[in-house]
Amino acid sequence: MNQNRSTASPSPNTAAATAPARPGLDLIPWPIRTDRLVLRRLRPTDLDRLWEYRSLPEVHQWLGGGSITDFAAFEARFPSLCEHGIAVELDGRVIGDLRAVVGDAWSQVGMEHLAKNTEAVLGWVFDPEAAGRGYATESVGALITACFAHLGVRRVSGSCFAVNEPSARLMKRLGMRLEEHSRKTALHRSGEWMDTMMFGVLADEWPER
Ligand SMILES: CC(C)(COP(=O)(O)OP(=O)(O)OC[C@H]1O[C@@H](n2cnc3c(N)ncnc32)[C@H](O)[C@@H]1OP(=O)(O)O)[C@@H](O)C(=O)NCCC(=O)NCCS
Repeated sequence: MNQNRSTASPSPNTAAATAPARPGLDLIPWPIRTDRLVLRRLRPTDLDRLWEYRSLPEVHQWLGGGSITDFAAFEARFPSLCEHGIAVELDGRVIGDLRAVVGDAWSQVGMEHLAKNTEAVLGWVFDPEAAGRGYATESVGALITACFAHLGVRRVSGSCFAVNEPSARLMKRLGMRLEEHSRKTALHRSGEWMDTMMFGVLADEWPER
């Protein structure tokens, strides 16, 4: 559990000064080993490998940041990817990367201190060469387990463009619940306003694995 949460000040005036640091991924005991995969922290030397699959048009079309043609821009933001990023290895080769960012739940005024750092938002990107064999399901499932066990969050969520069916199927397959399907709320770089879907799962709904 994150012990800092209970010591945070509820006062808006002092919150900034006393706010606890976000629980970082270093609270998780790495590496995580699953039946077939190894999950470890992303590191600067993963830059070229991630660029290989993240810059593919069929992958990049669903991603939020960076430019599809600009390696220098990707390199410049890579340290921030490493801060929240997890590499997924199969037989020593990176086949995908995950992301987990801890944040605050919404709360009414006066309750902010109890809502701090209670949620984790996850993301995932895999090399298409590794698709269709359950690697994303296996690794994201292990990451959700680790978030509940080590980051002290009460809810894990993920979201995607509604037309990104593999991503929505992944969340359903994991047992996450569709909690929001909003109409044309996200502007894709194609210029189209797209529907988005958000899925979530609570700690007490997540089975022991
Ligand atoms: C989203 C993404 C990770 C999903 O990848 P995926 O290959 O469909 O997911 P998995 O690796 O879990 O494989 C599941 C598929 O393999 C099949 N499969 C085979 N063996 C399996 C196993 N042992 N366990 C689970 N599924 C298995 C499943 O039936 C499923 O196929 P289906 O979706 O046709 O039913 C991938 O499409 C991706 O990286 N896309 C680009 C980036 C992106 O969109 N990121 C998310 C932005 S919101």
